Amino acid sequence: MTHPGVLSAGASPLGHILLLAGAPERILALRLAMSSAIGPPSVVLDAGCGSLGVLAIMAARLGARRVVAVDTGRLDDARALAEENGVADRIEFLQCDLADLPAATGPFDVILGMIYHNEPRRDLARQQLMAGLATRFAHPGTAFIPGTVRYTVAGYDSADRETTEQTLQDRWDNAVAGAEALTGITMAGIRPFPNADYSSVVEQLAQPLSPRAARFLAADTRTLLTSRQLFAEISYAAPETASAYPPALGLTVTAPGRLDTTVWRQELKFGDLLIRRTHTAHPVTPPCDVLPGDTAILATDGDWSGAIPLTIRHDDRI
Ligand SMILES: C[S@@+](CC[C@H](N)C(=O)[O-])C[C@H]1O[C@@H](n2cnc3c(N)ncnc32)[C@H](O)[C@@H]1O
Repeated sequence: MTHPGVLSAGASPLGHILLLAGAPERILALRLAMSSAIGPPSVVLDAGCGSLGVLAIMAARLGARRVVAVDTGRLDDARALAEENGVADRIEFLQCDLADLPAATGPFDVILGMIYHNEPRRDLARQQLMAGLATRFAHPGTAFIPGTVRYTVAGYDSADRETTEQTLQDRWDNAVAGAEALTGITMAGIRPFPNADYSSVVEQLAQPLSPRAARFLAADTRTLLTSRQLFAEISYAAPETASAYPPALGLTVTAPGRLDTTVWRQELKFGDLLIRRTHTAHPVTPPCDVLPGDTAILATDGDWSGAIPLTIRHDDRI
C-alpha cells in the first residue's frame, strides 16, 4: 500500500539522486559515520530508505549481517540496485509506514533515520516517529545516525539594503561555524571578521572575484538583529527529547532594525561529526522595530503555516 501523503524528495529515483548529488558532504559524512558504527555483526534499520535504498546498500557493503530498509514509496529500483551490488540476500525491503513496522523485525544495532524536511515545524512528526522507533527497536548499545538533531534560530531585518559590517560578520560567523563543524577543530582565533584583509585582498586581485567569493561578499538582503538561540536539541538516545518543542522562545536583540524574519538552522550530527546543516526562513508577525536590549518573543506553539507571532519586551533596552 502506498502513502502519497508522506512521500518526499527521496521517494522517487530523480528526487533521491538529486539529494545524493546535491549535498556531497552529507553522503561523505554518512559514509564516515556508518563505517565507524557498522560491521559484520550489525543488524541495521534504514528508516525511510528512499527509492534507491542507497544507505541500506552501503550498510550491507560495510558488512552488516542483516539490513531492514523501509519506505512508504516503491522500492523496485532499490531492490535492483541491491542485486547489482551483490547484497540483495542481506537486505529486506519493506514498503510500509515506519509507524507500522512489526516488533519482530528488530531489535537493531544501528538505526539510520535520514528522513527530515530540514524545517523544525514540519520535522516534529518525524522526530516523534524516530523517537518511537528508538523506544521500540533499540537496545542500550544501539547507534543512531543521526544521533542528535539541533535547531537554533536568529531574528533578521529583511529589508533590501547595502551589505553592512553586521551582515558580513554574521555571514563570516556562519561560514566559520560551518567549517568548525565539518572539520571538528575550533577556530576562535579567526572569529572577528577580517575586514581589512578582505578589502586589501579584493583590491589586489588582478582577476575578478570567483563567483563563490563574489557571492560571499555580495550585498545580503538580511541584517542580523538578535543573538542565535538554541530552540531544541533532540537526542535519540533519550527519545523523550523528541516529544515536543518549547512553546515560546526569547531572542536577545543586539542591533537596531525592523525584525520581520527568523532564520532557523538544523544540524544533524553523529557524535561531533556534522552530517548536514541547513537553513530555512520564516516571517514573523507583526514586524517590529527593535533596539539592543529588547527581547523578541516568538510564539512557537502555533502551526507556523503563516508568520510566527512576535511580541517585544522592552524592559532591558540599553
Ligand atoms: C529525504 S528521503 C531520504 C532517503 C534516504 N534515507 C537517504 O538519506 O538517502 C526521506 C524518505 O523517508 C521516507 N519516509 C518519510 N516518512 C516515512 C514513514 N512514516 N514511513 C516510511 N517512510 C517514510 C520518504 O518516503 C522518503 O523516501
